[in-house]
Amino acid sequence: TTPYETNAAGHLTVGGVEANELAERFGTPLYAYDVSAMRQQMRDFKRVFTERQVDYAVSYASKAFATVAMYEVAAQEGMHIDVVSGGEIYTALEANFPMSDVSFNGNNKSEEELVMAIENNLGTIIVDNFFELHLLHDLLAERDRVQNILLRITPGVEAHTHDYISTGQTDSKFGFDVNSGQAQAALQEALADPHFNVLGVHAHIGSQIFDVTGFQMAATKLVDLVHEWGFNPQVINTGGGFGIRYTEDDEPIPASDFVAAIIDTIAEKTTEYGMPMPAVWIEPGRSIVGPAGVSLYTIGSRKDVPGIRSYLSVDGGMGDNIRPALYQAKYEAVLVNQPDAPTEEVVRVAGKYCESGDVLVWEQALPKTKAGDVLAVLATGAYGYSMASNYNRNPRAAVVFVENGEAKVVVERESYQDIVRLDRHYL
Ligand code: LLP
Repeated sequence: TTPYETNAAGHLTVGGVEANELAERFGTPLYAYDVSAMRQQMRDFKRVFTERQVDYAVSYASKAFATVAMYEVAAQEGMHIDVVSGGEIYTALEANFPMSDVSFNGNNKSEEELVMAIENNLGTIIVDNFFELHLLHDLLAERDRVQNILLRITPGVEAHTHDYISTGQTDSKFGFDVNSGQAQAALQEALADPHFNVLGVHAHIGSQIFDVTGFQMAATKLVDLVHEWGFNPQVINTGGGFGIRYTEDDEPIPASDFVAAIIDTIAEKTTEYGMPMPAVWIEPGRSIVGPAGVSLYTIGSRKDVPGIRSYLSVDGGMGDNIRPALYQAKYEAVLVNQPDAPTEEVVRVAGKYCESGDVLVWEQALPKTKAGDVLAVLATGAYGYSMASNYNRNPRAAVVFVENGEAKVVVERESYQDIVRLDRHYL
């Protein structure tokens, strides 16, 4: 099973606190994060660079989990962050995140969002297409400003992951196309524009990737391209996408090993071309927060379909974790007070939402359970809370950060008042 921590009593713990106690104190469904696990991963990433004495930025791709508290921890660990919306910028501002260490990705940033970025002195805008290049030029020219940018390139690398989360292939909505010459044209235009300081190039090939060769190919491609274009970038950003372990079927290499391979590829290639070694930027999201989070649920009803399967329903579901429904994603779950007990049956863990696809774990071996038991779905720290919805008008779950035996609510549970807060009567 996916790694988890237990105490002397054999109970599941998160950050040194029993999961059962977290469920009792804060209610379920609940997202609980082990903060030191996130810190550890952030430090591991940084170490790969410092060991190699390469200039770098580890830019936490905050779409994976963006809250004020998360940005605070990222800042404390010397992370940069990547944002993709005005909402994430606003949240980072609320967290007093240093705006110079923020980069802004996205294929359709609005004028309002770009103005927000410029006026808050966001460090780097990762320009995705010609429409944005021209819009940004106008906004900068009006304000007599110069902005650091990277150009997002579609490297033409196919990542072997779910189609929805694969982004590097030529048929993609993201980035400047290479084959048609658009990427080079964009670079020439940006370099000639006094309102842009072109730091370098960016590519992101996809997410939940296990194979290091995709990253090596993308890194090679970026160096080949800038060399061909006669451009010495200060920065090469290879995006994120480092795969994590959700179930025992997943056997990723350590996330920092992907990064080592990327750095080494860029170093080799630039040396080969006699180019200066650029700073290497990465944008990991999932690998920082995914393994550090668990979702706690209380078991409710049970349905046994003779000869087919048993459904164990919990008090959350697709509103707090849509990944199984959306990507057929697989997870593992354990009973928090006996995670290591011998299993007696295989069940499907279903949510409480009015859809058959509302599943949290497709097939899970468990000991005998009863209503009221607390179940933990493991490794839910990425793209769970950040993709949460109010479907069926269920309030969003609370988030707690736990570290050194102390638990703190960092996002309050929504109330029914929150649910109707923006509703207005018609009659
Ligand atoms: N950089 C860029 C430009 C990205 O588009 C992404 C993810 C990342 C970095 C971070 O990738 P990560 O390290 O987290 O794999 N909702 C999907 C994942 C979508 C990823 C979108 N872009 C899921 O739940 O699997």
